[in-house]
Amino acid sequence: MDQHLGMNRTGIDMSPIHSKKMMQVDDDIPLTTDGNTTTANIEDYFLENAEPLGSVPLPGTVKGVAKASLKMASGRHPEVFINKLGERLAYERTGVRIYQQLITKCQHAPADLSPDLQLPIDRLRQFCSQEEEHFELLTNCLRKLGADPTAQTPDADASSVGASGFMKVITDPRTSISQCLQAMLAIELADNAAWELLAKLAEDMGMKDMAQEFQHALQQEDIHLREVRAWYEKSVRVQARMF
Ligand SMILES: [Fe+2]
Repeated sequence: MDQHLGMNRTGIDMSPIHSKKMMQVDDDIPLTTDGNTTTANIEDYFLENAEPLGSVPLPGTVKGVAKASLKMASGRHPEVFINKLGERLAYERTGVRIYQQLITKCQHAPADLSPDLQLPIDRLRQFCSQEEEHFELLTNCLRKLGADPTAQTPDADASSVGASGFMKVITDPRTSISQCLQAMLAIELADNAAWELLAKLAEDMGMKDMAQEFQHALQQEDIHLREVRAWYEKSVRVQARMF
């Protein structure tokens, strides 16, 4: 028999104190004139009282605190820069996993798949390792600023939620290479715009060396975008027999 009694803690009876609290309407939520709550006023309450999506962590090292304070004092806000560096780092890490998944999918493509729909695996591997290089570059940049590269910044959190849908498309065994390429195109478009912004931000922060390194990453991302876009267009047009 598969079913057995065990420590299933998902039911409301497992925590009477918390469940009672959960069922109570928050006293702060304004009631309608007839003493009820509506979806609209619950929604209004949460929109108006939501906490921000986390915070940028304080630099973990004394040296980092000194560096951060230095920039703060000169009227710049390194926390904005750190937030964006953390976002890019998380995205590039996801980029590595996405390329790995796409390579695996291509290796398991049906034997009768048209050569026009097949992707050059070596090129995918090259892009994958460039995403990894970008991840390492960002790790080093965050360390130079005294920030912790393992911390999840608020923008990293928001952007990971956004990218999780694309990840699902690519890891789903049922999706075609063309469908994966559509997701890849959205990822590379966002990646490209983000590197462009990061290079500008590094300039604004007076970090010329970092700005140059980000420009180099942007050039590589430009190639990713151009080639992914071309593969995607070809994969759709081949299916429609347009050429
Ligand atoms: Fe890329």
